[in-house]
Amino acid sequence: MPLNVVILGGTKGIGRALARRLAARGDRVHLLGRDVEDLARCAADLQARMPTPSPVTFSVCDLERPETFAPAVSAAATELGGFDTFVVTAGLFATQPQLEADRAFTLRLLTVNFAHTILLCEHVRSYLLARSGGTLCVFSSVAGDRGRKPVILYGATKAGLTAYLEGLDHKFRAAGLRTICVKPGFVRTGMTEGLPEPPFAADPDQVATTVVRAIDRGTPVVYAPPIWALVMLVIRWLPRAAMRKVGF
Ligand SMILES: NC(=O)c1ccc[n+]([C@@H]2O[C@H](COP(=O)([O-])OP(=O)(O)OC[C@H]3O[C@@H](n4cnc5c(N)ncnc54)[C@H](OP(=O)(O)O)[C@@H]3O)[C@@H](O)[C@H]2O)c1
Repeated sequence: MPLNVVILGGTKGIGRALARRLAARGDRVHLLGRDVEDLARCAADLQARMPTPSPVTFSVCDLERPETFAPAVSAAATELGGFDTFVVTAGLFATQPQLEADRAFTLRLLTVNFAHTILLCEHVRSYLLARSGGTLCVFSSVAGDRGRKPVILYGATKAGLTAYLEGLDHKFRAAGLRTICVKPGFVRTGMTEGLPEPPFAADPDQVATTVVRAIDRGTPVVYAPPIWALVMLVIRWLPRAAMRKVGF
């Protein structure tokens, strides 16, 4: 059965790779985002990739404007005739030095990545539970697994998001809500442009492959690419004294 998928963040990076993969296998996609022209371009691109022609629709949802959340969920449901899968890849990033030097952007990042993403998820949770279930797949990060010097603020937003998603999974899985928390490592996208590449850097397509499999299986936590599960297992067990000394 093809999925009816809503994607916030499908205009760029990992979200775009994921949207293309889902459209190419025949899933129906509704895009959410903040730039209408970009959304229209991406919708046309996805439509051209579908095995059988089917319209790819879109509507506005801006993570900085919570008043857009309820209308966006409702528009997506109307356009798709109901949806069973909701993916959030949208998010903000800046380096730790950039954030330490810019309190206004820090507030935006904390708000978008944590408070507003969770608020949006609450709208989606209510919608999916009212139709007796579905999948909520949200992009956190390996940066949320441990407090680390280069990603103190960004990592804190992802740690909070990860905890929220785990709580949802514990409480609502039995009622049919499949919560998927995606934790990518370093991925080559606009978000990481210009940053030095660590080992195991991946392309968006690699992450998309892992995430599609997780959506199909309902895997609650997924490291992408999977090697990051091992890397983070080691990092999570490093003693605090060692973490103070190392630079990552
Ligand atoms: N890339 C990595 O190495 C990496 C690693 C770990 C986790 N992640 C996480 O994975 C997710 C996807 O990352 P990516 O690398 O694909 O990022 P990206 O290429 O920068 O794409 C980010 C997407 O988020 C959208 N977005 C940003 N602010 C928004 C807002 N206020 N409202 C609605 N949409 C907004 C962007 O839309 P516009 O086109 O309108 O800007 C874009 O579509 C993020 O949550 C990120 O934190 C990424």
